[in-house]
Amino acid sequence: MDALAGFPDRFEVGVSTAAYQIEGAVTEDGRGPSVWDTFAHTPGRVKNGDTGDVACDHYHRWPEDVALMADLGVDAYRFSISWPRVQPTGSGALNTPGLDFYDRLVDALLQRGIAPLPTLFHWDLPQALEDEGGWLSRATAERFAEYAGHVADRLGDRVRRWITLNEPVVHMAEGHAWGGGAPGHSLMFGALPVAHHQLLGHGLAARVLRERGATQVMITNNCTPVLPASDDEADVMAAAMYDSFHNRLFNDPILLGAYPEMLASFLGDLVQEGDLEIIHAPLDALGINYYNPTRIAAAAPDADLPFDPQPIEGVPITAFGWPVVPGGLRDLLVGLKDTYGEALPPIYITENGCSTADGTDDAFRIDYLRGHLDALKSAIDAGVDVRGYFIWSLMDNFEWSEGYSQRFGLVRVDFETQERTPKDSFRWLRTALAARKPA
Ligand code: BGC
Ligand code: BGC
Repeated sequence: MDALAGFPDRFEVGVSTAAYQIEGAVTEDGRGPSVWDTFAHTPGRVKNGDTGDVACDHYHRWPEDVALMADLGVDAYRFSISWPRVQPTGSGALNTPGLDFYDRLVDALLQRGIAPLPTLFHWDLPQALEDEGGWLSRATAERFAEYAGHVADRLGDRVRRWITLNEPVVHMAEGHAWGGGAPGHSLMFGALPVAHHQLLGHGLAARVLRERGATQVMITNNCTPVLPASDDEADVMAAAMYDSFHNRLFNDPILLGAYPEMLASFLGDLVQEGDLEIIHAPLDALGINYYNPTRIAAAAPDADLPFDPQPIEGVPITAFGWPVVPGGLRDLLVGLKDTYGEALPPIYITENGCSTADGTDDAFRIDYLRGHLDALKSAIDAGVDVRGYFIWSLMDNFEWSEGYSQRFGLVRVDFETQERTPKDSFRWLRTALAARKPA
C-alpha cells in the first residue's frame, strides 16, 4: 500500500509504451513502412511470425487506453511518435492524418490530467531512410532533427518536454551489431557509426526543440550495472569494455562531451569538428531504462566481440529469463552519481518492469515493482536526484523479436479480441497512487 510513500513531492509516476509495439494500423491513413515492418515480415526474424500489423490496435482504441490510464491514476504517459506515420519517407512531405492522431491523443491526455511525455524515436525508422543507409549514414541525423521540428511545430503549444531517442545502445547493438532486431545487420564493431549518428541526431534535435519552446529535453539510455564474472584480470577488462560499449558510449559524450577512451579509436574519422559540442548540449534530465545487471566474462580469443555475457544465478527470473536484481537499480544510480558528479542532470526512470506468465494474477510483477521502488527510494536517500518512475508497460504488447510471447503489461491484452483486462498489479498500483494523494 505504501509503495509510493516517502518519495519527494511531485515525484512523477507514469507508464510507458512505444508506437510500433501498440499502434497497429500500419498501412492506414498514409503511414509509410518502417524498418520494423520490413523485419517482422521477413520469415524467421520474429517468434511465431508475429508482426506489429495489428498489435494492440491502439490507433483505433486509444480512447479506451487513455481511460484506463485515468482510472489507474498515473501522473504521466510516455509514448512514442511513429516517424513513418508523421513523415512516411522520413524526409519531405508530412502526413497530416498521422499528426492529427498524436494531436488528439495529447488533448485527451491533458483533459484527463495526464502529462504527455513523447519519445521521438523508438526504433521504427522509415524504411525509405534505411534504403539510403539508415543510421549508418550521417544524413539520417539531419533528417531526424527536421522531423523533430515538424512534430514540435504541431504539438509544441501543448508539449514542452520531449525525449529524443529511446535506448540508442539497443538500436545499435540489436539492430546493427548482432542483428536480433530491425534492420537486422550483423556488423559487430562496424555498428559504431550508428551510435555516433544517433547521438548527433539527438543533439541536433535538442536544438530544434528548444528553438520551439521546449523546456525539458531528455534522451533515454538503457543502462546496466556491469559485473565481472570473476576477479580474473581478463574478466575485469572484458567487463570494463562492456561498460564502455553499453553505458559510457552513450552517457559520456552527452554528459562529458567525450567518447570513452576504450572506444574512441574505433570511431575515428566519423566524429567531425563540432559534433561533440552538439551532442554535449545541456540536457534537462536523463532518462534511464533499467531491467537488470549484466555479468561479463572475457570471450575466447577468436570471438567476434571481446565480452561474453554470463547468467546471473541465485535470483528470481522473469518469464523472459531475465534476472530480477532490484538492488542493481540503486547501484546503477549511485554509480552514475559517482562517475558524473555535477555533470549528472536529474534522472527519470523511463522504463522498468518485467514480463510474466499470461494471466491477470501477477503477484510476481507486484513484487518486482515493489522491490524496484524500494531500491529507487534508497538511491534518492543516498543523494541521487530522481524525479520520476515509468513502468514498462501499460499493457501487453508486441515485444520485438519475441512477438506477443512476452507480456509486460499492467493490463492484459487478448490479442484475438483486443479485450483489455486490468491485472492484479494494475489494482495494486492504483491503490498505491490513490493513497499518495491527500483525501
Ligand atoms: C537486456 C535488457 C534490455 C533488453 C533490450 C535484454 O537482453 O537484459 O536490459 O533492455 O535486452 O530489449
Ligand atoms: C525497450 C522496450 C522493450 C522493453 C522490454 C526496452 O529495451 O525500450 O521497447 O519492450 O525494453 O524488452
